[in-house]
Amino acid sequence: MRYSEMKRAELLEERDSLRLLLEMYKTEGLKLDLSRGKPAADQLDLSTELLNRPLAESEYVVDGFDCRNYGCPWGLPSMRRFWGELLGIPAEQVIVGGNSSLALMYGTIARGMIFGLADSPAPWSTVADRKWLCPAPGYDRHFAITEKMGFELIPVDMTPEGPDMDQVEKLALDPTVKGMWCVPKYANPTGITYSDATCRRLTNMKTGAPDFTVMWDNAYAVHDLCDEGDELPNIFDLAREAGTENRFICFSSTSKITFPGAGVSMMAASPANIDAAKKVMAVETIGYDKLNQVRHLIFLRDPAGVKRQMARHKALLSEKFRVLEERLSEDLDGLGIAEWTHPKGGYFVSLNVSDGCAKRVHELAKEAGVTLTSAGATFPYGLDPRDRNLRLAPTCCTVDNLREAASILTVAVRLAALEKLL
Ligand SMILES: Cc1ncc(COP(=O)(O)O)c(C=O)c1O
Repeated sequence: MRYSEMKRAELLEERDSLRLLLEMYKTEGLKLDLSRGKPAADQLDLSTELLNRPLAESEYVVDGFDCRNYGCPWGLPSMRRFWGELLGIPAEQVIVGGNSSLALMYGTIARGMIFGLADSPAPWSTVADRKWLCPAPGYDRHFAITEKMGFELIPVDMTPEGPDMDQVEKLALDPTVKGMWCVPKYANPTGITYSDATCRRLTNMKTGAPDFTVMWDNAYAVHDLCDEGDELPNIFDLAREAGTENRFICFSSTSKITFPGAGVSMMAASPANIDAAKKVMAVETIGYDKLNQVRHLIFLRDPAGVKRQMARHKALLSEKFRVLEERLSEDLDGLGIAEWTHPKGGYFVSLNVSDGCAKRVHELAKEAGVTLTSAGATFPYGLDPRDRNLRLAPTCCTVDNLREAASILTVAVRLAALEKLL
């Protein structure tokens, strides 16, 4: 029965029994964590081969380059082809980076600030009241980059098909709005994948700024949790048709394919934006780690190799998402106090609790030994206007720990809602 339909005496009784339950958990001195969106050790073990095998001479000379030496600053041709084939982008439009796609994103915004991008009439830093669109809930590290660079962050609602395009189309007409963040597949944290209609509206929409830039962070491009994963349209194909290819800069990495922090990143863009980027990056770096590129090429080989590797990840992860889903639905279904996403891939479940309750849920869970990502973290400036969203990351703990953490979480969700109602 929905809490809103229960009598006061029933609500009080429910609250008191949940309080007792939470007190019992507190005495157990638990230390559980649902905040870390990273692979567990068993997933890292899937890539240990990357560490265990020295490279033979025949292997470290690739595409005619001795990878022990300087050279080839945009990545080995084979590695550019690898990413191009995986994401459906011509290899010449791919630049291979270092161990972090986030660093490439930071670099891209910094180049926009200092020099401007291909279509910029002037560097972004000269636009005093510059603004950036931030679909929310979204990824806090994205928001932090544009906040640091002095953009005003404008939240845009998320829908099951991607960002609310009515809002985006209206806001993008302002010439001081210079771009937007997108995680188009298995978004962090909602897990949704942008629909064909959303992608087309993004490529076709009018923008006030000629250099409006979509930071297309395809971090979870191949991270399915079930056999029938989501399909994301190829944004560059659509943009080419619409004549807006310069609008999109795509990013990805092997962080959650092999080793986070020790993988291989990439960015891709139109020929004009790649040329502009190379001119600046040629001064910034003498090239990234080609030996790691070689190791990854030997280990993953091609899209089929990535598919095999991701099937192994899926086997380890799908049970965790199922356990979390089961707990949430057994404990919270029908109470009218929470809703959550059912992602087919990615690393997160996004939980909306009753308005005004997310901070309290965080606090109650913490007291009982469960760390959650801070309430508000999924919104620009850490401010969730309805104080209701919590990002759940089930990947990093063991299945047993996850079961216990999820049980405590649902007690905290119910208790916070009851406190509010009473
Ligand atoms: C959407 C998104 N982009 C980027 C990253 C980080 O990527 P990288 O390790 O390549 O810097 C993460 C990590 O959680 C993420 O969720």
